Amino acid sequence: MTKQAAVSVETAKKAPVLPDAQTVTSVTHYTDRLFSFRVTRPQSLRFRSGEFVMIGLLGETGKPLLRAYSIASPSWDDELEFYSIKVQDGPLTSRLQHIKVGDQVIVRPKPVGTLVLDALLPAKRIYFIATGTGIAPFASLIRDPDLYERYEEVILIHTCRQVAELKYGADLVKALKDDPLIGEFAEKLTYYPTTTREKSPKMGRVTSLIEDGTLFKDLGLPALNPETDRVMICGSMGLNLDVKEICEAAGLTEGSNSKPAEFVLEKAFVG
Ligand code: A2P
Repeated sequence: MTKQAAVSVETAKKAPVLPDAQTVTSVTHYTDRLFSFRVTRPQSLRFRSGEFVMIGLLGETGKPLLRAYSIASPSWDDELEFYSIKVQDGPLTSRLQHIKVGDQVIVRPKPVGTLVLDALLPAKRIYFIATGTGIAPFASLIRDPDLYERYEEVILIHTCRQVAELKYGADLVKALKDDPLIGEFAEKLTYYPTTTREKSPKMGRVTSLIEDGTLFKDLGLPALNPETDRVMICGSMGLNLDVKEICEAAGLTEGSNSKPAEFVLEKAFVG
């Protein structure tokens, strides 16, 4: 055996066997709590905009450490994008936040989820209500032409603690106008960002802004109505339950893949 061959056998032995490995193509940090990254797309992965997959890294024991992440990129994209929180003592995100271009991430190519257009009955208008990283599935949906073919109006509401936490969504919305595929539909999308712990043009929790009528007044729209409106919700457990209650009080019924109806919800990834 040549010296060269001996070295490569040694390297191969040390390299971890990573099932379903994809390569990181870019990483963007927004705050000390938030970042996004893109990876190559598994050839076998077909998904509907709004769905999530299990992704992760190899754990200390050599076993994959996986969590559910909404795919933030649209279904036509060559790559996959994810938007993540950084938790300093979180088993996965304490390490995931340090990934660099060229690193490998595990992506299990089995998409699932309820935040899909097929889980809702046709209507005029759709509201996307997100807090924090809950904007990820909507980042996918607002870049999908199918959304604009189904709805006349799309309203994306994003509540965060601080202004910097809105940047990921704000940049996406801004870029939409110049997107060759979506640009022509961009005028159908209304973006309504709010903050709760730092001064910004619109302050308050989305729930309070709905309940006191501010949201509808600002948008010049009528209150929620099951005849015309659909709602997708993605945030903390508290947010999901509170908005679910608001939807039900307005007469909207929860839908699913097997039984489409008027609103759907999913918990945003935390930890
Ligand atoms: P608040 O600052 O009033 O708690 P977090 O970073 O904790 O996930 O929260 C993200 C955003 O979601 C914050 O602006 C937070 O507001 C808001 N939020 C948390 N829980 C709810 C809820 N039940 N209803 C509406 N907004 C919520």
